[in-house]
Parts: sequence; C-alpha cells; structure tokens
Amino acid sequence: MEKEEREKWLLAGKVGREIRELGVSLCKPGAKILDIAEAIEKRTFEMGARPSFPPNISINQIAAHYTPKFGDNLELKDNDIVKIDVGASVDGYLSDTAASVSVGNSDNPLITAARDALDSVAKLIRPGMAVSEISAVIEDTITKAGFSPIVNLGGHGIGRYSLHEGEFISNSRNNAGVYLRKEGVVAVEPFATTGGGYVIDSSEIQILSLIEGKNVRSALGREILKYIAEEYHELPFAKRWIITRFGRLAELELKNLTAIGALNEFNVLKERDNGMVAQFEHSFLFDDGNVVVTTL
Ligand code: CO
Repeated sequence: MEKEEREKWLLAGKVGREIRELGVSLCKPGAKILDIAEAIEKRTFEMGARPSFPPNISINQIAAHYTPKFGDNLELKDNDIVKIDVGASVDGYLSDTAASVSVGNSDNPLITAARDALDSVAKLIRPGMAVSEISAVIEDTITKAGFSPIVNLGGHGIGRYSLHEGEFISNSRNNAGVYLRKEGVVAVEPFATTGGGYVIDSSEIQILSLIEGKNVRSALGREILKYIAEEYHELPFAKRWIITRFGRLAELELKNLTAIGALNEFNVLKERDNGMVAQFEHSFLFDDGNVVVTTL
C-alpha cells in the first residue's frame, strides 16, 4: 500500500477513535443527543476530517441508524444503553467504530459481552482468514455470557468512499466460505442483545444516501441533489444536515428525491423482541501482512 494511502486510513481511524470517545464521555443523564451529535461533528471537522456517516446515537432497543433529527429534544436517562457509532473520512478513506455505555453506570453485563466479543476478534484477526472463524468467536463469546448475537447485522469491508462493500462478517456461526480481503480495511461489529437476535426496520428514517443523479423539476430539489453529490458522494448523510442548510422545505424535497429513486433510505433498526442492544466496532487495516486496529 502506498504510504500516502496508509496515512489517510490511519488518520481516519485516529479521528474515529477520538470522536467515539468524545461521544461516550458526553453520555450523561439529561444530556441532549443532538448536542452530543453536534459535538462529534464539530470535533471531526476540527481534526481535518469529515463524517463518514452521521453519528449514530441509538438507545436501548434501537440497534442502529438513529441520528438526531432536526431540533431533536431527546435526552438521555439513567440506565439507557447507548450505542455511539461514528466514523471519519479523510479524502474518502474511512473509519467506522462504535462503543456502548449504560448511562449513569460504570458497566453492564450486556455491554461487557459485546466488548469481549470484539476484543476476542482483535486477538485473532488476520488478512485473508475465513470469516466463519470470526463469526464463531463472536457468537460463542456472546452466548457464553447469556445473550444473543444479532444475526442480521455484521461487519463489512470498507473502500474509498464506500462504507459497506465486499465481505459481510456475520455475528453468528456460519460456513459461508467467505474470506477477508488480504489488503485494505474491514470493520468488525459484534451486537449483543437480551432479545432473540434479529433486527427489523422501524418506520423512522433520519439517514439517507445518494443512489444517482436524476433529472429533478424543482430548483430546490436540483440544488439539494447537487449539494449531496459534492459533499457526501455516496456516503450516508443526515436529514438534519440538509434541513439545517436548506430550511424546512428541504424535508419534502428529500421525500420527492427518494420517490424518484435518487436517494436511498436507512430505516432505524430495532430489535424484534424489544431486547436491549449493545455494540462495539473497530476498523482493521491489513497492509503487507500486518494488522493495524486504526480506531484503537
Ligand atoms: Co460498520
């Protein structure tokens, strides 16, 4: 790998770690999740990076894909299980990392199970290895602690401006015959739950991404689409960001743009049995046979 490329992956990881830890430190009773998200975004830009996707701040039964909505008033309460899932982009080189906290508590067994699963993977991950070996370690660590892995969420390959590509790294035992890439970046993200271990779409959508440019009749719609392509490429973005930039009318335009197939929606994902959910995630760089946890 070229030195310049390696340095961008590493910086994206460093910023990812920093904003994850900032988010975790702000998870206090009474904290507004919108303030936490904005602090994360501010720090990302201060460090010379951009978000690789909107900060996901998902609480309790919500597993993923919640980012604060425009004007969100939601505050954290004692005992909330909060997942901070964030990432940074440096010239399209991305990181993706997550941690969980129990608000007002030092720790919690569900959180420990998810963290232990990721730590176990970090000890054995190697370029080109069978994904099934990683999946087995994740499932075994979580089930031994008395919880279930979420089977329809998992890790993934990462490419330039491409958050999910290539290998899917399942959180449950399988013999899919899939191998990790030998060179490049993958994210591993164990999810543990007190429920059955399956997430479903809720009707709420706060995150979108560009599919492709389309001919749009409205001037505002055209302007928004151009902005999205320039600012985010095909990476996920928050509805809130567009409303902040273009005003409340933009919300309707985003609906129109989705209806014509220009935008993709990420539904907020909740555990089907309303189980509590904890998650940890790191990005791993494989470079010339070596493994670097970029977000450690
Ligand atoms: Co991820």
